[in-house]
Amino acid sequence: MCGIIGILGDHEAAPALVDALKRLEYRGYDSAGIATVNDGHLDRRRAVGKLVNLTDLLVHDPLPGKSGIGHTRWATHGAPTVVNAHPHRAGPVAVVHNGIIENFRELRAELATHGYAAESDTDTETIALLAQSFLDAGKTPVEAAEAAISRLEGAFALAFLFDGEPDLIVGARKGSPLAVGHGDGEMYLGSDAIALAPLTDRITYLEEGDRVILTRAGATIRDAGGRLVNRPMRRIRVDAARIEKDGHRHFMAKEIAEQPAVLARVIDAYLDGDALRFPTGLPDFAQVERVVMVACGTAFYACLTAKYWLERIARLPVEVDVASEFRYREPPVGPNTLAIFVSQSGETADTLAALRYCRDKAAILSVVNVPESSIARESDLALPIHAGVEVGVASTKAFTCQLAVLALVALKAGVDRGTLDAADAAALRAALRSLPGLVSQALNAGEAIEAVSHDLSKARDILFLGRGIMYPIALEGALKLKEISYIHAEGYASGELKHGPIALIDPAVPVIVMAPRDGLFDKTVSNMQEVMARGGKVVLVTDAAGARAASEGAWRVIEMPSVPDVLAPILYAIPAQLLAYHTAVAKGTDVDQPRNLAKSVTVE
Ligand code: G6P
Repeated sequence: MCGIIGILGDHEAAPALVDALKRLEYRGYDSAGIATVNDGHLDRRRAVGKLVNLTDLLVHDPLPGKSGIGHTRWATHGAPTVVNAHPHRAGPVAVVHNGIIENFRELRAELATHGYAAESDTDTETIALLAQSFLDAGKTPVEAAEAAISRLEGAFALAFLFDGEPDLIVGARKGSPLAVGHGDGEMYLGSDAIALAPLTDRITYLEEGDRVILTRAGATIRDAGGRLVNRPMRRIRVDAARIEKDGHRHFMAKEIAEQPAVLARVIDAYLDGDALRFPTGLPDFAQVERVVMVACGTAFYACLTAKYWLERIARLPVEVDVASEFRYREPPVGPNTLAIFVSQSGETADTLAALRYCRDKAAILSVVNVPESSIARESDLALPIHAGVEVGVASTKAFTCQLAVLALVALKAGVDRGTLDAADAAALRAALRSLPGLVSQALNAGEAIEAVSHDLSKARDILFLGRGIMYPIALEGALKLKEISYIHAEGYASGELKHGPIALIDPAVPVIVMAPRDGLFDKTVSNMQEVMARGGKVVLVTDAAGARAASEGAWRVIEMPSVPDVLAPILYAIPAQLLAYHTAVAKGTDVDQPRNLAKSVTVE
């Protein structure tokens, strides 16, 4: 993970570097640092923790210079300390890095025998030391950077800055994303379009193995074989003013509240009256024999939900896997398979690797929030979820928008395959149209959920139960809760309860039951009774009919509007998010930037 930025500018670089890092903080926030060249002299500032610590440091100890590089870190090698913070410097060279250098131990030992001793625990410092050793051997800065890069194994996006070279940044990418930004007499390098958006809307994405020599006059790009290449310049549209909470206490609260609007937007984008409006390139599902869905984290739970839809609505066999397992399992992927990759960021390293594994084996569809992302660009077709920039590390609006797009894909699949008749298709379209209004009503449960959350915040363990299509929402509810409140939580299929988890039940373990009054409601209620019979405290999340039928004995009931069964997962994602949010607020954790996590995971 980590975010990197480079600027060859016309103004003081430090404020722009810090602003870009603010936009990259979603990639990690263990430490941050910048380096500049001023009057030919290389210097740097680094601080542990959130970016604000670096900002404070710069107030007391400014860093002048019009060219510079910056980094926000998610620690892989070495604790989050100042010594381990980037930029790493070795004599006349400073380096920022996103990725993991797998052969750094061998390189470090080799460098040490030549007198180049490391002071940090990081893999990145090795790159700076390597470059320094090549400079000492008489190479030019560009040659030294290239020689260092050629020794590296693993994944990297890199930027090098050199003492005495105010008009030079050398960059490289392999396995981690990197883009060049084109200004007027200024040039930039950054991990993604979001970082570069306030600086320019003209971007060139580097391809795997590319190296770039950046001067204020432009960018010279060579591919992995050293050949000069022309990579296309694109105009991007990224909301430059995204990092505002708009009066909300946290980005997560804002993003939860935005869901009626963004769901309406995404449904409108793909549903025009009665007609589905997908971009060309989506396969005819009548020709698809099997679907493979791959993702990580919350996006994986979106895939799990879609499995229920595609199987039920379109009678399509669907296999779902987490990307980190899928990529190394080498599963057979046949020619009539559609491989679907779901990713908010479009940069998750494991998901991207899984996609690359499927290339040339299957048609590749991605469902992404960032249309310029690597996963989108490497797919046969990318369907944007139109959620807008999501800042909170815990995914909320991206999840429900992913679900909306996947429900629309299932609708098309059902129509293509003739498994959904005209009346059922119309009912599903109407249900989708009603969704933003229902989500808006679900948000009204906020106060009741806040009260429950106050009590939940005292628990050490919490279970979530769901059956059928609500099972993935139980999993998502547990994930959301543990990632931001740090309370241990597990999601279970209700029917699995008696195969182990029931041993955990006692009055100190609240059990949250996600149960709209659907065809499986009575079964879930039986499992709920089993919990209550053992002294368990149940929070029942259900609709009015469910509350009438099964509130007795429940510790708390949270009421949702009634919703067509098939779309219940989207609606019930809202109480799951609100429970996590309010519990975390009650505990006083860092809701938007929970410890140890990062929003975009660009390392394995
Ligand atoms: C991280 C984030 C999660 C996200 C997952 C997958 O773990 O904290 O919120 O669901 O990555 O990210 P993606 O960008 O691929 O959806």
